[in-house]
Amino acid sequence: MSLTHVMRSEADLLLPTYERSPVLFQRGRGVHLWDSQGKPYLDFLSGIGVNALGYKHPAIQKTLLQQSRKLIHISNLFFHEYQAELARLLAKISGLDRAFFCNSGTEAWEGALKLARAYAHLHNSNGHKPKWRLIALDNSFHGRTFGALATTGSPKYRAPFAPLLPGVIFVKLNDLDGLKRQFDSSVCAICLETIQGEGGIHPVSPAFLELARKLTKQSDALLILDEIQCGLGRTGRHFAYQHFGVQPDIVTVAKPLAAGLPLGAVLTTDRVARAIHPGLHGTTFGGGPLACAVAIEFLRQMDKLLGHVKQAGDYFHAQLQWLAAKHATVLEIRGLGLMLAMELDSADRAKAVVRQLLEQGIIINRTHETVLRFLPPYIVSNKEIDEVIQALDVALNLKIDAAPMSRVIGQKQTAASRLRR
Ligand SMILES: Cc1ncc(COP(=O)(O)O)c(C=O)c1O
Repeated sequence: MSLTHVMRSEADLLLPTYERSPVLFQRGRGVHLWDSQGKPYLDFLSGIGVNALGYKHPAIQKTLLQQSRKLIHISNLFFHEYQAELARLLAKISGLDRAFFCNSGTEAWEGALKLARAYAHLHNSNGHKPKWRLIALDNSFHGRTFGALATTGSPKYRAPFAPLLPGVIFVKLNDLDGLKRQFDSSVCAICLETIQGEGGIHPVSPAFLELARKLTKQSDALLILDEIQCGLGRTGRHFAYQHFGVQPDIVTVAKPLAAGLPLGAVLTTDRVARAIHPGLHGTTFGGGPLACAVAIEFLRQMDKLLGHVKQAGDYFHAQLQWLAAKHATVLEIRGLGLMLAMELDSADRAKAVVRQLLEQGIIINRTHETVLRFLPPYIVSNKEIDEVIQALDVALNLKIDAAPMSRVIGQKQTAASRLRR
């Protein structure tokens, strides 16, 4: 099937929710993808953080095949072998006690918000009305369902769907005074991404996270951390909050958890989990045997890669800093581990760089207008990082209005030409 045919059919048949790049991917292996023309691409986005083990990982393939022959789905009205084992592994690495499994990041986030309200109802300590307000952050992203949108601090996602869930107050990331001003005994939870992803890779400051922990602890409110993008090994630790020495009450994870199959989880303490009883929350698909069996294998593989993620992340970060020192158009390098960003001086330049790299067979993306985001698979090598750095070095010299793609590509041996067979 050709790209043109697929593009025409989608234009007629799908809701126009995406402006896709004109590439039809057909297969992948390791850190590479191949399109319908046989052109290889170095993938430094990994399905926006999902394909953390790259493509066609042998241990994941083996588990997928074995489990798909046995049992793909069973309703949550019955037991299967893998949910408790997966919950045990997640509890061990997170320092939390219990898990609820669902299908996506936004669903995990909805579960976390519901849990915070249920906990507030159970611990109705201010006498008359349960705590109900939620503090969320400007520039945050928690998903596309209504609760997630209500706590997402970006007007462009929220405005067309108003009115949203009431009771959400927004505070600037790392604004200590703002947080102190807005926090009171009516707040049931402070909600934040440990590293804002869609907002342009902005880590929370240690002081802000500590304050959020202190305020919530003092008033028996909850600290909810969204680690859907930054968790599960992405920063070189199991969870990004482990860089800060702060323990949350609830953590949400999803993206890489089942190595490409849809699976999310809400992790929490025994104390918070007491607010839940049978019938209060649920899902048809969440936590099925196939996704959970694969997730158990993902966690095994992730454990072996944490040291490598840190080493590769440090190397990549240093190389990006080298580019920043060389190119005046680079404003800042941010991030931890293999969740990195390069902020440029203009949205047009960021757009042109992403397009240029794609033509050369390198996938990255642009978030928050001016930010180049890098989320390569955990198996990435220094050699592959060098390849991306070289391509960026050339692309950052582009005259954004003038330079025709072909001339720039001609200056270098591209990822595509090296791998084409
Ligand atoms: C931090 C964060 N939270 C939540 C979500 C929503 O996840 P999903 O798209 O799986 O619903 C995302 C997705 O990008 C995310 O980055």
